[in-house]
Amino acid sequence: MAPTSQAGPVNLGIARRVCLVTGGASGFGAALAEKLARAVGCFHNAAGDIISYTHTVSVLKGAIVAVADRNEELGRKLVQEFEEKYAGELDIGFFVFIKVDLSKLDEVKRMVDAVVRRYGTIDILVNNAGIGDGDTWFLRGDSQRWVDTFGVNTHAAIYATQLVINEIWKKPEHQNRGGVVVNTASMAAFDVEATQPVYGATKAAVVAFTRSLASLAKSHNIRVNCVCPAASPTPLFLGGMNHPRLKESFAKYQKEGWIVPVDLVAEALLYGIVETTLAGAVIRVVPKNGIELYDYKTSKAVKAEWPRQKL
Ligand SMILES: NC(=O)c1ccc[n+]([C@@H]2O[C@H](COP(=O)([O-])OP(=O)(O)OC[C@H]3O[C@@H](n4cnc5c(N)ncnc54)[C@H](O)[C@@H]3O)[C@@H](O)[C@H]2O)c1
Repeated sequence: MAPTSQAGPVNLGIARRVCLVTGGASGFGAALAEKLARAVGCFHNAAGDIISYTHTVSVLKGAIVAVADRNEELGRKLVQEFEEKYAGELDIGFFVFIKVDLSKLDEVKRMVDAVVRRYGTIDILVNNAGIGDGDTWFLRGDSQRWVDTFGVNTHAAIYATQLVINEIWKKPEHQNRGGVVVNTASMAAFDVEATQPVYGATKAAVVAFTRSLASLAKSHNIRVNCVCPAASPTPLFLGGMNHPRLKESFAKYQKEGWIVPVDLVAEALLYGIVETTLAGAVIRVVPKNGIELYDYKTSKAVKAEWPRQKL
């Protein structure tokens, strides 16, 4: 369905905030990067189609977005495309590309340092890059692949979070202004994902890590949330559709209607960033409810009130 009306304006509270989005060259990361710089949120109908946009009207409302990715060609192309698309629009934030291989911890540090050197700080960190188990079933697989999968999906997220908190947000000059981390986990953290056991384990770890940091909201004004999408047609998922080992289970997700739109997931990431009441939250994106909040105490999920007219 085509977007029909414009709602808003709203203040998303991200004007000229410095955002670092890992895995930002593609899929959810790229969709989020554009939303952050445009400072827009969307209304979706029950099917997940965008029906209208919320937007900010005053000038200089977009965020500064550092897109970090190992895919340099894609990352640079994306940044260039955004710049051409929004040339001359003052409301739009701006983008920079940072090449990084997140499977190496020293590169995680280099990435954080590069953003700080350029923009002086990081306000919002989105640990979104991820990889799957790869070609071989785990029992026959190369253990290096598990190390890399944990490296990118889990260790890089943990280390980047530690770095921004210790090196920026806890410094006296930061004056307790706080910050936000949103981690992209997966519904694979909840559902037994027999085809990709290591992937599921990396994402369950990200969920546990996120929940364990809930108290930072009170102690340091730092909110850490995570988003758990069901399957969504990004290059990661579409690659799996052609994968000799994964295509059967991926086709099953499609057949059973277990697919959510890429934009809806980007919206859920935005929700985790701007909704100030959320800390340690597990935000799921599923076909039935769209964006929902999962409560571990009751094992129940409630549909999220997002986007709200007034933030
Ligand atoms: N698409 C889905 O169905 C789905 C569902 C649930 C969760 N996820 C998660 O969403 C996140 C984003 O994935 P996506 O679906 O948008 O896929 P994607 O492949 O479109 O994007 C992932 C990005 O991460 C980058 N990346 C991978 N390894 C990297 C590394 N070592 N260093 C730096 N960058 C690296 C890739 O180059 C790519 O641009 C991942 O964490 C993924 O696990 C995806």
